[in-house]
Amino acid sequence: MTAVDAAAEVLALARARIASPTVQFLEADLFEWQPLRRYDIVFFAFWLSHVPPARLPDFWNTVAAALAPGGKAIFIDDGPAAAAEEEVLTNLPAPAALRRLADGSQYRIVKVFHDVRTLTDDLTALGWSVRIRSMGGNFIGIAEPPTKFSRRRQTRKGPAGPEISRARRGLTFRSCF
Ligand SMILES: C[S@@+](CC[C@H](N)C(=O)[O-])C[C@H]1O[C@@H](n2cnc3c(N)ncnc32)[C@H](O)[C@@H]1O
Repeated sequence: MTAVDAAAEVLALARARIASPTVQFLEADLFEWQPLRRYDIVFFAFWLSHVPPARLPDFWNTVAAALAPGGKAIFIDDGPAAAAEEEVLTNLPAPAALRRLADGSQYRIVKVFHDVRTLTDDLTALGWSVRIRSMGGNFIGIAEPPTKFSRRRQTRKGPAGPEISRARRGLTFRSCF
């Protein structure tokens, strides 16, 4: 399993909790990261809501590029009801909220409260096969990439090549954001 995050502190916390030799922790900006291998599952929790809408198509392309043939993306995040618990900011280039830390510092973060219908429609428009359902105040989704990515994967040479053959042999890899 490969666990990706941009923050060294977050990775250190995760590493201390998991302490498994089968998990590779990777410090990377997901907007720049290019997968070196392919995975049966790409999982991301409470990350999609931080992706600026204008960057969503490229982000989903990255996810597709990380998936082995037959692989799926699984994701969970805050739904619209969670907005009531945030200081939502308006008139910014992307949907945003204000977060206050215990030390008094304040940060503006990108925060998109996706609703199931719109997210389903947006992903479908990008060619993904997707099922998303509400779960309490959250949503959980499972999505398969457009077939053009499968075709490209089968013909493309590159660093992910060996991963495809390993995936075909039935080994499971997971990537977590
Ligand atoms: C709300 S947290 C979710 C963390 C974890 N998935 C969980 O469910 O506990 C969002 C995470 O995204 C990370 N992050 C923010 N920008 C990033 C980027 N450009 N690339 C990779 N990770 C990023 C943050 O460091 C943070 O750990």
